[in-house]
Amino acid sequence: MNIVSVLERELGKEAVVGPGDERLEDYGRDESPLPEFYPPACAVLCESTEQVAAVLRICLEQNTPVTPRGAGSGMVGGALPVRGGVVLSTEKMQRIKEIDPADLVAVVEPGVITGKFQEAVEAAGVFYPPDPASLEYCSIGGNASTNAGGPRAFKYGVTRDYVLGLEVALMGGEVLRCGRRTAKGVTSYDLVAGFVGTEGTFGVITEMCVKLVPKPAAAATILGVFTDLAKAGLAIEALLRSGVRPSVLEIADKFSIDAVRPKARYRFPANAGAIVLCEVDGEADMMEMMMERIGLAFDELGAIDVLAASEPAERSKVWEARRLISGALKEAYRIKVNEDICVPRGKIVEMIARCDRIAAETGIPIAVFGHAGDGNLHTNLLSNEDPMDPAVREKLWHAAGQIFTHAVALGGTLSGEHGIGLTKKPYVTLEQSPQLIEWQHRWKAMWDPSGLLNPGKRLPERQKRCSE
Ligand code: MLT
Ligand code: ZN
Repeated sequence: MNIVSVLERELGKEAVVGPGDERLEDYGRDESPLPEFYPPACAVLCESTEQVAAVLRICLEQNTPVTPRGAGSGMVGGALPVRGGVVLSTEKMQRIKEIDPADLVAVVEPGVITGKFQEAVEAAGVFYPPDPASLEYCSIGGNASTNAGGPRAFKYGVTRDYVLGLEVALMGGEVLRCGRRTAKGVTSYDLVAGFVGTEGTFGVITEMCVKLVPKPAAAATILGVFTDLAKAGLAIEALLRSGVRPSVLEIADKFSIDAVRPKARYRFPANAGAIVLCEVDGEADMMEMMMERIGLAFDELGAIDVLAASEPAERSKVWEARRLISGALKEAYRIKVNEDICVPRGKIVEMIARCDRIAAETGIPIAVFGHAGDGNLHTNLLSNEDPMDPAVREKLWHAAGQIFTHAVALGGTLSGEHGIGLTKKPYVTLEQSPQLIEWQHRWKAMWDPSGLLNPGKRLPERQKRCSE
């Protein structure tokens, strides 16, 4: 009996999206810049831990690759079934089981949409800070699998900092609960931290206990507009040195501005070449003073326009300009290879200058925006050439390799928040030693000796050692 029939028999036909179902195509794509479609044999839309465990048991029994998938919003191909087989989707596991403002924790299923979860949490008077740009459609389980960040990571940290406990289904069907719901806890090895960010290669998250924090009483947004990116980069470094601690410190260049200009309600000055977006939060009576301090700093650093907003409607107008960037660039160019290098904070200006040089040398426009306060820059290689042309792709990925090489040379890393998945796997050796890669293979083999769980992701192929 083939794998599709076995899954239909054990989980019911309604749980399986099989051959001939037009929805199946969706499970062979994600938000990565790869134009290929990776057809799975089927996708299983699990609704419970038991179903997830059953899929993992059946796939092991049938020697079939299985690729976990959240909302499919990943940007590095981590959820693509590159070896075929089964896509295990958690999109239907959408229950918020508990929000406890006294314990400052919540318990959720992995398919809960992050933005919806934030709304529910804030309605209960508390706050869940991780805010990936895709929060309106990404899922919290996917955020944990990639250790997603977002603008507020600057003050509040990334998803890993909020995951206290996990229930994980392992290859073969065993279900493991690890972690805690307390503020502190060191009784076991930190397996939770070990599962977060592993892009579904160690196990499938079926439940999460996450940390909440008190909701800030007020927030304000300040936008500084500069004539060029280098000035904006200097403004970021100066703000960081000045001791001001905003919750958000974002940057965007002229390509990004020009792409959002027709869509955004904020009217950018004609000579706008870069923006710095800053947010502060805390006690209401602090907002005025913080806005003034940052606004003045922007003025002194040569801003050509400064906008400070404390009312929600005004703030959302400013935020809109930032949140529209990725989609607007995607609409404006046929190819957008969007990377998310992270460099030490003192190297932001130097990294921007190196991107300029790579753009000039290769002739490929590079849009830069992102979470500059963390040194986490989205360097987007743009092209209007044919995405299926191997020569075009070779040229773009070669330029991406140059960006990675420079980021690593400056003490940085390939990925600050999107993950490695498929697209960045060939570049891991630029950053990691063969020894480190080998130890990661051993760690992966402990959780997934069969190698069937999300195969072909994250780790470059194993090097044969001399003794073997
Ligand atoms: C963002 O911050 O907008 C996303 O992480 C990056 C992207 O869409 O490239
Ligand atoms: Zn980002």
